[in-house]
Amino acid sequence: MTPDARAVRALIRWFGREGHDFPWRNTRDRWAILVSEVMLQSTQVSRVVPYYEAWMTRWPGAADLVEAPLGEVLAQWQGLGYPRRARNLHAAAGIIGEHGWPDSDHLTDLPGVGAYTAAAIRCFADGEAVLPEDVNIRRVVARRFPGGWPGTPRGRGWDVGQALMDLGREVCSARTPRCDDGCPLRTACPAADAGAVHEVTPPTRRQSPYEGSLRQRRGTLLRTLTERGRAPVSSDPEAADSLVGDGLAERRGRSLVPVGWAALR
Ligand code: ADE
Repeated sequence: MTPDARAVRALIRWFGREGHDFPWRNTRDRWAILVSEVMLQSTQVSRVVPYYEAWMTRWPGAADLVEAPLGEVLAQWQGLGYPRRARNLHAAAGIIGEHGWPDSDHLTDLPGVGAYTAAAIRCFADGEAVLPEDVNIRRVVARRFPGGWPGTPRGRGWDVGQALMDLGREVCSARTPRCDDGCPLRTACPAADAGAVHEVTPPTRRQSPYEGSLRQRRGTLLRTLTERGRAPVSSDPEAADSLVGDGLAERRGRSLVPVGWAALR
């Protein structure tokens, strides 16, 4: 066995000892994996857990979500941020209800499903040996396997994908990698051996401040809409335009109303 193949085995064993028991790791259902991965795009794992559990209790399958008015779907999403994701999930549920799931090569036909999410469904639901390369996994591979991923042992696609998620978030992190604190990939790691972990993948700039941003104002306006049913466009015309552009709200004269609100009342 090559040293790289041995490192992959060590990673799988590490995950068996240290891996997290997140609720989306107890299912292989495509819909549940899609919901979790969409929530995990741009939102921290610890924040996602309670939202995922509440959501799946309320709408366990695509067929359940289709029945729900969009206004209720957006209200349930409230607080997770980037509400376009909820709208895309609702639209995806409609397409799946009508046509069934696309085959593996066409998952990106679903709204809100890009190359990453499609790979995550193939890996975490279908058990394929496909790496869902998000920023964490890309960083781990760049540091430890600069020549490319050495290959996944047969039948271990799911473990490898989940293990790399945990390792990238907690051990091989962008800013404070814990190379000598139990990293299962430490042996023969070119980046750590060269003392150049940070140079391999320089820390990305932090997200621009949320406070006072258009994103925050959109969030505030959408919360008012879901709570009160309407708001004057003049309260924040730029945020109002942005929500209308994303199909999350509609104009009624000088007021803004949430999409799907009529069905709520
Ligand atoms: N981030 C994206 N997908 C994840 C997963 N399946 N587990 C933990 N964190 C993730």
